[in-house]
Amino acid sequence: MRYKLLGRSGLRVSEVCLGTMMMSTESPSSAGPEESRRILEAFADRGGNYFDTANEVYSGGLSERILGEFVASERHRYVVTTKYTNTLHSGFDPSIRDHPNAGGNHKKSMVQSVEGSLKRLGVDYIDLLWIHFWDYSTDIADVMRNVNDLVRQGKVLHFGLCNTPAWVVARGQTVADQRGWEPISALQYQYNLVSRDLELEIIPCSRALGIGVNAYSPLAGGFLTGKYTRGDSTESRRFDSEFFKQLTFQFDEKAYDTARKVDEIADRLGTSSAAVALAWVRDRGVIPMIGARKVSQIEDSLRYLSLTLPAEDMQALTEASAPVLPWTYHLLHGDDSRIRQLAAGGMLDAIDNEHFPC
Ligand SMILES: NC(=O)c1ccc[n+]([C@@H]2O[C@H](COP(=O)([O-])OP(=O)(O)OC[C@H]3O[C@@H](n4cnc5c(N)ncnc54)[C@H](OP(=O)(O)O)[C@@H]3O)[C@@H](O)[C@H]2O)c1
Repeated sequence: MRYKLLGRSGLRVSEVCLGTMMMSTESPSSAGPEESRRILEAFADRGGNYFDTANEVYSGGLSERILGEFVASERHRYVVTTKYTNTLHSGFDPSIRDHPNAGGNHKKSMVQSVEGSLKRLGVDYIDLLWIHFWDYSTDIADVMRNVNDLVRQGKVLHFGLCNTPAWVVARGQTVADQRGWEPISALQYQYNLVSRDLELEIIPCSRALGIGVNAYSPLAGGFLTGKYTRGDSTESRRFDSEFFKQLTFQFDEKAYDTARKVDEIADRLGTSSAAVALAWVRDRGVIPMIGARKVSQIEDSLRYLSLTLPAEDMQALTEASAPVLPWTYHLLHGDDSRIRQLAAGGMLDAIDNEHFPC
């Protein structure tokens, strides 16, 4: 296992993060408490120290409890991150009405959620608090000040944003820098071989502002593990459930072609499809946040840690999964580089541009 510095914080996190979203009660798509503990142990045994969870929105708080029990005896070793914004009460059922401050990015929601998380996790402090998604209601300057207060109280050490537009990230970091507040250390978005939109704004934004980028669902929720494409799977799969099918991904023919390409490369390299898909995310400079429902899955996925993806396979996967770019992005960095040549005096190929490697 290697370790990364998270943003500008100096905090050392394992090169892969373990997510606990599916750690709850036993079900066809979740791991129960016993199996969850074994998954957490397998990850920590390999040197993993970086964990992601969320407030009650993950299994009514059970995911935080399971993680809290695991880290209790060696709290100092682990980087425990959790999220606020969502509440269990509003959930995904539109018929349930709670109260208007039950969620959101504002201070009341933040403070209430953090107090609940500290109790469920059984910890004195949270290593990194995430906003779960942008609420289009709260001023990011207020959010930065409010989280800075929690940092000063010692309840939270660092801060990150999930699912937030790049302009909000940029304004938040600028305000925090100007006022000497706790900066944004990490960003968390969906990123994998069938969902690459964060390359447009988020990755360049993070590089310019010194923020680490984390990819949730790096296996596209299991779609890139071969069990949807090889035709020999007998185990239960997340997207056999109507709930998940509607919630997240729509897999089109291009996605299936990409997944089959992953299988083909895995077979040739003598490894698993999951390992190839995760190595691709790693080699794009993004920290994968993986999930697992069973120990055998985490063991299989972590094979990527020792996998070197040949440059030609990396390129083939990047080309096969290339998104269709909206016009402005096509103009600025699509295949046709004539506009960029104008801005580079015809010397585009002689300029190393680390800000925009995509
Ligand atoms: N910030 C956010 O909005 C957000 C959103 C989503 C997730 N997250 C975080 O990111 C973490 C990871 O997300 P994710 O669970 O979607 O990640 P993922 O790694 O893409 O998918 C994990 C799922 O894929 C299947 N799987 C994993 N490894 C496998 C293997 N080697 N072989 C076969 N199947 C395998 C399992 O599902 P089945 O066996 O049931 O098919 C497992 O639950 C979450 O736990 C959470 O912490 C954050």
